Amino acid sequence: MSKFIINGPAKLSGAIAVKGAKNSALKIIPAALLSRQKITINNLPNIEDVSRALELLEDLGGVIKRRNGACEIEINNLSKNELAPKFANKFRASIMFVGPLLARFGEVKFPHPGGCVIGAGTRPINLFLEGYKSLGAKITFKNGFYIIKTNQLKGCDYFFTTVSVTGTESLVMTAVLATGITILKNCAMEPEIVALADYLNRQGAKIKGAGTPTITITGVDKITAGEFNIIPDRIETGTFAIMAAATRSELTITKCNPAHIEALLTIFNKQGIEFTFGPDWIKILPAKNFLPYNIKTHEYPGFPTDLQSPFTVLMTQASGSSIIHETIYDRRLLFTDILSQMGADIIMCDPHRVVVNGPTKLSAKKITSLDIRAGIAVIIAALIAEGETEIDNIYQVDRGYEDIDGRLRSIGADIKRIGSLNL
Ligand code: EPU
Repeated sequence: MSKFIINGPAKLSGAIAVKGAKNSALKIIPAALLSRQKITINNLPNIEDVSRALELLEDLGGVIKRRNGACEIEINNLSKNELAPKFANKFRASIMFVGPLLARFGEVKFPHPGGCVIGAGTRPINLFLEGYKSLGAKITFKNGFYIIKTNQLKGCDYFFTTVSVTGTESLVMTAVLATGITILKNCAMEPEIVALADYLNRQGAKIKGAGTPTITITGVDKITAGEFNIIPDRIETGTFAIMAAATRSELTITKCNPAHIEALLTIFNKQGIEFTFGPDWIKILPAKNFLPYNIKTHEYPGFPTDLQSPFTVLMTQASGSSIIHETIYDRRLLFTDILSQMGADIIMCDPHRVVVNGPTKLSAKKITSLDIRAGIAVIIAALIAEGETEIDNIYQVDRGYEDIDGRLRSIGADIKRIGSLNL
């Protein structure tokens, strides 16, 4: 099993460029199923989850040409309409293939998707299933597989009782080829949803309102060829900003969109963490003493759950106590136990809330990556800590961050990978 060995404390410097957004790429790749024509995707991050998504598409009959940072996809005929468990079990976003397959081919069979164990039990897909049903599909469950069929999807009104990012994206993709008008209410508003809608609209779809709670989709007959540049990863952007502040480094983050992490930058301002920014860069200035801050994770544009773990590490260095309230997932604070082992003063109030008392010295330990975001968070903790930290299960980090060790070395971190990276 591959590991990272990190020697801290680190002082980072220079510039680090943000890669394309994982959670946009994982929707644009399956969206290619909606078209018979060639799709080109640029700024594609070279990460595990993207490789898994392309593998799954290839298994379905997609013809894929992958170059460094880009790929071309063409899907004329499917070789099957079943998501093989060996692929679908590996990542939650395999569910994103269901809507496009249903919309273009009328039938799809798939197992419950895998992915990070951060939600209640296996993360639910009830909203997706309800949505497909509302659009006129029939659903059965047999021998561990959902089977969804339709002769013709028809526009509908659907209200999300829980705001869901992938749920919104899935129903948008399913409704583009339905007859009539679909109105989705209480939608998620993440930038990745706007990017998906813009991309599909350029290919002939008629989607209005993406980025607001109500999205209206007028069905069209076909989706044409398209080219898409993946938007910068806002979670990577925020993570590097937090990493710089936590290590009290001066670091410039390039190829990013500062507007997408306004929640974090607003909090930095209140805490006294100084930064400057331009249209596509942010420079974090060496942090001195900074204030604690209570956060409550929220759908976009609120504080993202995907930045909660790195922010919790940052609060171990703040002058005072912060309450971290994770509202989206009930297992995303379990990693704080690792921070406590490293010397942090953290009290777990309940599965959704911890109190972090700072500032504390962190010390090196043998630790593990519990999920993608907890994985990067413990890397930040190791960069703060005195001594040599060993982190295993780094496959989790490779799922979401391209060449993280190489990129961190380029800004001055002492990080070594033991074992190889096989994407
Ligand atoms: N939910 C349901 N039923 C559903 C779907 C979701 O109850 O059918 C619940 C979930 O259990 C959760 C809440 O709705 O409590 C919100 O989850 P959401 O559906 O928005 O999450 P997601 O779409 O599965 C995406 C990202 C996550 C990110 C969340 C929240 C992708 C592939 N994943 O997940 O990213 O944390 O939105 O922003 O886009 C990550 O990148 O590490 C990651 C987990």
